[in-house]
Amino acid sequence: MSIVHRSHLCAWALTALVLPAAPPADMPQVKGTLDNLQAAYNGESNAHAKYLAYAEKAKAEGYPKVATLFTAAARSEAIHAANHAEVIRNMGAKPEADVQVPAVGSTQENLQEALAGESYERDLMYPAFLAKARQEGHAEAIRTLNLARNAEIEHARLYQAALDEPDAWPTVGVSYYVCPVCGWTSETLPAERCPSSFTPKSRFLTVS
Ligand SMILES: [Fe+2]
Ligand SMILES: [Fe+2]
Repeated sequence: MSIVHRSHLCAWALTALVLPAAPPADMPQVKGTLDNLQAAYNGESNAHAKYLAYAEKAKAEGYPKVATLFTAAARSEAIHAANHAEVIRNMGAKPEADVQVPAVGSTQENLQEALAGESYERDLMYPAFLAKARQEGHAEAIRTLNLARNAEIEHARLYQAALDEPDAWPTVGVSYYVCPVCGWTSETLPAERCPSSFTPKSRFLTVS
């Protein structure tokens, strides 16, 4: 038995050595920090439009809790877009986004799509753009990219939680809280300050 296992392992190792590792199809294209910020601005602007459309769909399907989550996340993405835009302007450029009409599926499908988008930003796009901004020593870019990534981590968590609890989707009267500075999004207010940007909780936006 162990020989069979070992031969399988050897075959796998040989394949790994011979075949070049193909990058995942959705790896972000990393350029200079200004271009990366434009790409992030475009992504955030499209995410904002997409989540507003998803919120309408959730409302139409009778899922007010999910509609509120999408509305809160849309508000957060607008904050990320505005923060990236400010840095782009400070670099002497004009923020440019190509906002597409979102493809809207069922609420189940929309949550899965949203989770995939947030996971991409959390695991691939923002880490790659942050590495470049650090390499270029661009403090303002590092800050806006980092704050956005921190919020995307929470968005992914909230979308996963929603997917795990479909029975809660019809719940009415749920609120989400959004940091007006960095877009941190939560089902509860922080004890004192935003855990990401340290903004006082008194400034948080309530989305109901
Ligand atoms: Fe975002
Ligand atoms: Fe997000």
